[in-house]
Amino acid sequence: MPNSAPVGIFDSGVGGLSVLRDIRALLPHEDLLYVADSGHVPYGSKTPQYIQARSLALASFLTRDHPEQHVKAIVIACNTATAAAAGLLRSRFEVPIVAMEPAVKPAVAATRRGVVGVLATVGMLRSAQFAALLDRFGRGVEVVTQPCPGLVELVEAGELNGRATRKLVEQYTTPLLEHGVDTIVLGCTHYPLLRPLIEDVVGPDIALIDTGRAVAQQLRRVLEGRDLRSERLAPGKEDFWTSADVGSAQRVIRTLWGGEPTVRRLPEEFS
Ligand code: DGL
Repeated sequence: MPNSAPVGIFDSGVGGLSVLRDIRALLPHEDLLYVADSGHVPYGSKTPQYIQARSLALASFLTRDHPEQHVKAIVIACNTATAAAAGLLRSRFEVPIVAMEPAVKPAVAATRRGVVGVLATVGMLRSAQFAALLDRFGRGVEVVTQPCPGLVELVEAGELNGRATRKLVEQYTTPLLEHGVDTIVLGCTHYPLLRPLIEDVVGPDIALIDTGRAVAQQLRRVLEGRDLRSERLAPGKEDFWTSADVGSAQRVIRTLWGGEPTVRRLPEEFS
């Protein structure tokens, strides 16, 4: 595997751009290939089997024998897909796979009042992986969970601070604040894209924690451990692919990422 090969990153949609931002900041010379599975979003309301099938399709696309793909590592920039499919992908693909989970551990370390809130998808909160995470790191503190149906769809539409989005954020954070949380885990990669709005709603005394930077650091460790870091001195580029309509993906990615991103349609057999 050449060091110049890209890193592949995927999410159910554009939420993983919050992780891509951290990866780009930490690894400026890597080429990054981002797949937004927006044709199948949200994953949060799908069965684990459905998410596994999608994750297999996306990982197959990223590792196919093609000069533009064939990535040297895959980042699952999605908590829900990690819970459903990280183990499966690791058993099927040789390429290193970096996955993620809600930041319960750092939140438990950070809370002063001993009450932590977790915003995540229905699928994530229902998963055995989340139960195991709470079991491992949630002891000794109160962890209040809140599923957030509808929020991902608004982010997908680029609605980062409209009235409907604010209303949902208020609806989902109010029960956490009533429980007295002082730390909130943004347990879905779409939510950090709403950070300014969430901060505005919950106020400055509540800490918001996500795992984008930790994932970027883990990716760097993995690439260094396998001697796979890019040796190029020039800045790396980003390529975007979507399983949804290219025009709308282009608009949203431009809003969320900036610049003039080129977005391509995922080939039919992977869509
Ligand atoms: N961005 C995803 C996550 O981190 C999933 C959102 C969804 O499609 O429901 O969980």
